[in-house]
Amino acid sequence: MPLCAAHGLAVTTVEGIGSSKTRLHPVQERLAKSHGSQCGFCTPGIVMSMYTLLRNQPQPSMQDVETYMQGNLCRCTGYRAILDGLRTLTTDSGGCGVQNCCRTNGSSGCGPGDRQTNGTGSGQNGTGSGENGTGSGLNGSGSGENGTNSGQNGTNSGQNGTNSGENGTNSGQNGTGSRQNGTPTNGTYREEDRVGTSLFNTERLTPYDPSQEAIFPPELMLRPDWVSRPLKFSGPRVTWHRPATLSELLRLKATYPNAKLVNGNTEIGVEVKLKRCEYPVLINPGQVTELTSVTWDEDGVTFGAAVTLSDIEAELLTAQSQQPAWKTRVFSAITEMLRWFAGTQIRNVSAIGGNIMTGSPISDLVPLLMSADSQLTLMTSSGEQRTVPIRGFYTAYRRNVAKPDEILLSVTVPYTAEDEFFMGFKQAHRRDDDIAIVNAGFFVRIRDQKVHTFRATSWDDSLLQEAVSLLLEDLPLGPSAPGGMIEYRRTLTLSFFFKFYLQTCGWITGRVDESCKSVLEKFHRPTPASTQLYQVVPDDQPVEDLVGRPVAHMSALKQVTGEAQYLDDIPPLAGELHAGFVLSSRAHARIASVDAREALQEPGATHFFSAKDIAPERNKTGPSPHHQDEEVFRAETVTSMGQVIGLVLACDRATAQRAAKKDAIRENSFTPTVHYFEHGDVNAAFSSAAHVVEGSVRMGGQEHFYLETVGCIAVPKEDNEMEVHVSSQGLNINQMLIARALGVPANRIVCKAKRLGGGFGGKESRTCSVTTPVAVAANRSGRPVRAVLERDEDMASMGTRHPMLAKYRAGVTVEGKVTCVEMEIFLNAGFSHDLSLGVISRATTSCDNAYHYPAYRITGKLCLTNTPSNTAFRGFGGPQGSMVAEAMMDDIASQLRLDATQVRMVNLVQEGHLNVTRQPMVQVTVDRCIAEVVQKAGFRRLQREVETFNRLNRWKKRGVALIPNKFNIAFGLALLNQGGALVHIYTDGSVLVTVGGVEMGQGLFTKCYQVVTRVLGVSADRVYISETATDKVPNASPTAASMSTDLYGAAVLNACEQLRERLAPFRKAAPDGTFSDWVLAAYQSRVCLSVCGFEATKGLAFDPLTHIGDMYSYFVFGAACSLVEVDCLTGDHQVLKTDIVMDVGESLNPAIDIGQIEGAFMQGYGLFCMERLKYSPNGFNFTRGPGAYKIPGFGDIPLELHVSLLRGSPNPRAVYSSKAVGEPPLFSAASVFFAIKEAVRAARAQNGISEPLRMESPATPDRIRMACRDMFTDKLPPAPEPGSFKPWMVDL
Ligand SMILES: Cc1cc2nc3c(=O)[nH]c(=O)nc-3n(C[C@H](O)[C@H](O)[C@H](O)COP(=O)(O)OP(=O)(O)OC[C@H]3O[C@@H](n4cnc5c(N)ncnc54)[C@H](O)[C@@H]3O)c2cc1C
Ligand code: FES
Repeated sequence: MPLCAAHGLAVTTVEGIGSSKTRLHPVQERLAKSHGSQCGFCTPGIVMSMYTLLRNQPQPSMQDVETYMQGNLCRCTGYRAILDGLRTLTTDSGGCGVQNCCRTNGSSGCGPGDRQTNGTGSGQNGTGSGENGTGSGLNGSGSGENGTNSGQNGTNSGQNGTNSGENGTNSGQNGTGSRQNGTPTNGTYREEDRVGTSLFNTERLTPYDPSQEAIFPPELMLRPDWVSRPLKFSGPRVTWHRPATLSELLRLKATYPNAKLVNGNTEIGVEVKLKRCEYPVLINPGQVTELTSVTWDEDGVTFGAAVTLSDIEAELLTAQSQQPAWKTRVFSAITEMLRWFAGTQIRNVSAIGGNIMTGSPISDLVPLLMSADSQLTLMTSSGEQRTVPIRGFYTAYRRNVAKPDEILLSVTVPYTAEDEFFMGFKQAHRRDDDIAIVNAGFFVRIRDQKVHTFRATSWDDSLLQEAVSLLLEDLPLGPSAPGGMIEYRRTLTLSFFFKFYLQTCGWITGRVDESCKSVLEKFHRPTPASTQLYQVVPDDQPVEDLVGRPVAHMSALKQVTGEAQYLDDIPPLAGELHAGFVLSSRAHARIASVDAREALQEPGATHFFSAKDIAPERNKTGPSPHHQDEEVFRAETVTSMGQVIGLVLACDRATAQRAAKKDAIRENSFTPTVHYFEHGDVNAAFSSAAHVVEGSVRMGGQEHFYLETVGCIAVPKEDNEMEVHVSSQGLNINQMLIARALGVPANRIVCKAKRLGGGFGGKESRTCSVTTPVAVAANRSGRPVRAVLERDEDMASMGTRHPMLAKYRAGVTVEGKVTCVEMEIFLNAGFSHDLSLGVISRATTSCDNAYHYPAYRITGKLCLTNTPSNTAFRGFGGPQGSMVAEAMMDDIASQLRLDATQVRMVNLVQEGHLNVTRQPMVQVTVDRCIAEVVQKAGFRRLQREVETFNRLNRWKKRGVALIPNKFNIAFGLALLNQGGALVHIYTDGSVLVTVGGVEMGQGLFTKCYQVVTRVLGVSADRVYISETATDKVPNASPTAASMSTDLYGAAVLNACEQLRERLAPFRKAAPDGTFSDWVLAAYQSRVCLSVCGFEATKGLAFDPLTHIGDMYSYFVFGAACSLVEVDCLTGDHQVLKTDIVMDVGESLNPAIDIGQIEGAFMQGYGLFCMERLKYSPNGFNFTRGPGAYKIPGFGDIPLELHVSLLRGSPNPRAVYSSKAVGEPPLFSAASVFFAIKEAVRAARAQNGISEPLRMESPATPDRIRMACRDMFTDKLPPAPEPGSFKPWMVDL
């Protein structure tokens, strides 16, 4: 929304509704306590969407919540925890979530007097200490004399304090039970199995009281003319007019014929930001009555062109509730379409006129308006009106018959007659907030039992056949047509028509064939259900010891209140300049010359730097220690889109970016690195195998889509020192490469990160391509330089997960037991090595997933290509490797006609088996995980139900799959398995911890402070972890490989144990003293209270040449079962149910671990079922923003999601028997992919197709639909031979 459009409005931000220092808003409190915030970058948006909902509707339902959440994305949590927190504010929870909530006991709402607001302590680790006060700290301690602590994980140490902390001693929700008073309060704790079933306490939440909300500011209320009077804002580049009347609008249009009318700015904004369009005069018609009014008459409804989509939706819904259903068939199609149109935020501001005038081929409304025969009224600047049917309005791509001086005044949509039938359809990659792949509107009038448009006159099969032929003729998409997916898009039009045909049969005859009914039902979205099970801590665990308890993320309160500082929240520094990157727009080109003159002419632009500003030997760079195959600035050629050619510095970000976009360049491989593992006589094993199964699998890459893009601030200091704040998981790599680029020793460079808004591997090494040029620029200019990538720049340049192609051959017994395998895995590394050697290493050592291969020959090759350098991504090649194993198991089962689960079970790895690096498998729990999933999911029953469903339903099919999961823990490179920590104790007894690992939402800092509470026996409020910095903990490995708690948690443990020993004599001398007493006594005795802790993972000695020694420390196992339903006509699907069991050892923090599992599952779901990178054959990345690249949203979580942590599985190799959790659960989402495959197989079997099913990952709607082959796909002409045409897009 443009700032000018906010004139006269009051804007409330997340900081304005609550604070961790005073009082939290109930939305903030619930989101924090429900663990709905991990990295927290998405959190303010989610808080404010919920806040807006409550302001509009104080008693919302979960359906409302889901609608308001559309358009919000979270890459960390997997959404379940967010929804659970917000649910407590809905009618679905029985009110505000508080027991005996006023809304559930019949009254109309909380009165001010009902609220318990006489206390205000609310710090995260705060202390409820006010007299009669109520501390609401998340993990607080009630230490006040008469204080009442209601902290979530509170510990009571107050003299007379009453502790009701969620996980505390008195009324612990999570099964710690009551060491003092006995009874658990929520009734879910079962002593016999010590299972925790709830991660937060809904009983101690501050009630939501709408009467306490801030009112609209009186100064604005008293000046309505602020809203209604004409306005003009003039800036150096743009003038904004807001006329108050139609005549004024027309006069402006006559004066400025090229002026753009702007309503929601959702099209214009994109054009200005991404397509660099410039519109010097904008006219906002939002106050012009003729354009904002809605009028009804006997023929239908007329919407002014500036009526917003939300208002249209509300208006049409009212009409539908008041008019007969037949009369409003078009309206109901429009309201249904609007449900899937963008998100609430967009619908609230964007107008129907903007949609029509843009004339985009993906418009959701235009096809409906056309098929409903809507009329448009246009008006010239001299006031002449004309009405044109929208069917004749468009002349070509984004062109229409409106003259330059004409505006769209209104659009009229007719009622339907009783004999007129209407339906609309849309298919997108993601149901919520995505643009259509194909959309359609269908209208038919059947008068006197005759159809009039077709040669066939009856609504029967002959008409269907004729319509199918006509549609194919009408939509002759060429093989290179923009958008690609040619066969799918053509098929979809037939599928949609078939649905319309079936529905109309039903309307006419009142009957639809039973087996076809289900395909007319849209995927329903009841409120998702979920459970989380975990092992609770023993009763006798001391209260201050937080290890094993589901305590909230230590930054949760700061994140929900907007107080958490991310890189770009650091206030501007004196003299600071902003960097704009000149990035290559070609995949492969020679740089003939770099001309910065035009860029530097932009007012405010101060400097330009490129390869000539750095010595050639220092320009060579690259995160891979063995390959300095990158450049700080590209010097002679570019080998991928998105490479840095130069950097413009300017006084502000917008100027820097504008200047950098001036055209500065005029311009006129396979390189394999082989990883090889072989064991046994593979050839002999193949010769003697009962069957040999061959196949291949392709898996696409994946964009990290962390919500905070990459950025840094480089601050030059004296003596060549430089401080660099960087949003990176690999501070050490950045430090080293910056030092190298500047030609200074590493001791002059300090890299720092407080927290990241997500990383997922994408901020491990690629950040260097931003920090090194920025550091050079800061060094050369002598000024602090800030660079924060725009989303499109980040996506174009930072690389992705490695796309994979793998070929396999397996020798198998008649029972499907594998006797030998041969696998070849190719990974697309992009233009440089980066971390790809490590990725291919993990892929090749993960290609056994949870299976045992007696003999094998495994080869891994890296392909260097002209795409951005691909890099680490959660799993680091593990998911690719495991996918090869699972695709092979799936093929074995289908080719041998065996039960897929049975095949998986007979090949399952057992304790003591050797893996592909000849390392013995220990603590194998995969069988236990599977058994628990089978039992919890009711797997066998699900299989039977699926069979029945598929028999009864012609066009919808279900599939269920159970997939085991193993992840190898440790960095593949042994030397990286080390970590340090620095722990200081101050004389007041407070503890400051610094670790080498970076907090990026995964909860590393939270787990570290939990460790401190146990070792030192101090309460949480005494422990603080501020940031990560290379001058505190040197030489830290990247925060990656799921190892951060194993390394840094262990280093903290080590440091704290040393400190505990140093304090022991003082504790012994004064056993009744407090921690502060002992600390003070130690200080007075001149004992050092600062310790470096260190951890080096033991037993790792893998030699990549000889293959001798253990590569991994231990293994994490799990299993997942998913049930899906597929619409065979459209390729759409819905996940009905997922059950996951993961062995995370003895969880240090079940809330964080379950959050990691759910987040990883949803990210994996994106990887395997949704997220598709699209490149042109020339290497141009089409998927450079949320518009084109879809990650899972709120609407994609399984309708049922059950997560269990395996109990009774202590791990002797990591901190307090825990196991790593960050990456292993991602592969559980493969269960959805294989369940989809099962459903597709059922469709194919019904259509008599017996060929093996090949399906590439991700299983996007086009792939699903085309794999379901049927009478419609068979109607398509054969696709042209690959190579005979240039496709619009290619899969990498
Ligand atoms: C995140 C996102 C999601 C989206 N999702 C969808 C989707 O699911 N489906 C879909 O169809 N679209 C989608 N869009 C596109 C866009 O939101 C719609 O087209 C919307 O209706 C545009 O309305 P607006 O008021 O924002 O247009 P604006 O950007 O304000 O204007 C768009 C164009 O229309 C012209 N215009 C506006 N009013 C008049 C008038 N009265 N006379 C003459 N010209 C006029 C403007 O000058 C401009 O050229 C999405 C956009 C975004 C940013
Ligand atoms: S917590 Fe939502 S994006 Fe990180």
